[in-house]
Amino acid sequence: MSEGVAPNAVAAVDEGRLWQRLMQMAEIGGFDFEDEHKGVNRPCLTELDRTARRLLITWAGKLGAAVSVDPAGNLFLRIEGQDPSLPPVLTGSHMDSQPQGGRFDGIYGVLAGLEAIEAIAAAGIRPKRAIEVVAWTNEEGGRYAPGCTGSMSFTGFKPMSAFDDLTDQDGIRYADALAEQMALESDLARRPLGYVPHAYLEAHIEQGPRLEAEAKDIGVVTGIQGSRWFTVTIEGRLDHAGTTPLALRRDAVQDMIRAVTALNALMHDPDDVLRFTVASIRVEPDTSNSIARKVVFTIDFRHPDKAVLIARGDAIAGVVQAAMKTCTATVHERFHALPADFGETVPGAVAAAASAQGLSAIRMPSGAFHDAQFLVPVCPTGMMFIPCRNGVSHHPAEYSEPGACANGARVLAQALLTLANS
Ligand code: GLV
Ligand code: MN
Ligand code: MN
Repeated sequence: MSEGVAPNAVAAVDEGRLWQRLMQMAEIGGFDFEDEHKGVNRPCLTELDRTARRLLITWAGKLGAAVSVDPAGNLFLRIEGQDPSLPPVLTGSHMDSQPQGGRFDGIYGVLAGLEAIEAIAAAGIRPKRAIEVVAWTNEEGGRYAPGCTGSMSFTGFKPMSAFDDLTDQDGIRYADALAEQMALESDLARRPLGYVPHAYLEAHIEQGPRLEAEAKDIGVVTGIQGSRWFTVTIEGRLDHAGTTPLALRRDAVQDMIRAVTALNALMHDPDDVLRFTVASIRVEPDTSNSIARKVVFTIDFRHPDKAVLIARGDAIAGVVQAAMKTCTATVHERFHALPADFGETVPGAVAAAASAQGLSAIRMPSGAFHDAQFLVPVCPTGMMFIPCRNGVSHHPAEYSEPGACANGARVLAQALLTLANS
């Protein structure tokens, strides 16, 4: 790459265009929250998801990007390189949101990727390798848990069929929702599932407070902590709340409380590094005057240290069983991702781009999981973060300044060019 080529692409990043697109996307599934914030509820594989994808495709078409979809529903936008036979550099993120999510988580990485390739094309640059922007299917796991099903399918971390029988709250199977989407997008070019990219770089809002607190522009992400998700089912017996003596009850809620208390003790961490969350609890029949027959609750457990992730995660089932007084319990693990280390290739390109642009950067790990985690075994991988207000995410108050979004797109454009010319 000759001197001045990257600066031209960097200068072509359009802050206003990126911001306007972010705001336009936020209307798709947008809702008002507590009279104060504008949130987004855009579940994967829904009409809303498809409307957002069509809008993205319209924008991609204007810059001449080639659009295609793989069998897992992952959507790709490609600008060609000088040698189309070389493996492309891949960037992107996801377009689905949490049920009460914000306007930036995921979609920022897709639109920053689009902005980067648009700027590169507008600067008249054709790098050695193609650059592709991907919108991964179902990163959040809000409608179909676990998340990252698109990237896990793409990388072969799990076969696509492993997700067929996941169901949403209405009992709709993942395979059926995906088939419906594929049929409704049958006009889009198809591509086979998976390939080995030359490198993968995902831009994202930080979702934590560090960049803002330390007044830094860019987070050069070093890796992602490990996550394990479990579903615990506790079965008791349905009885009358007014008449059944306590001694005769098999109360699923009471045994759930014992189990969660015991799990809190197992997961106790005075250093506050470990993350343990019970956030979805379904009670049957969910009425105040019948004893609960059944409770299903979720566990989200994360830690950066593989040994802790394995030891404490493996102890969960035994702790739940020991906590049962009158009910029976089953523990099902539905997601297991070990901590990922990004190495130096991609983080180095991000750090160099930030420094060349006079932006301040720090190296930091990611507490949230991302599709990037599943690319690590496949190709040099990395992520970059931009600051978000008060570190708030998975909440309608999620916010990143227009200038921060544009800084991220500029660093992304330059780092992608570096990688695409290597
Ligand atoms: C991703 O959304 C996560 O939960 O970390
Ligand atoms: Mn995300
Ligand atoms: Mn998220």
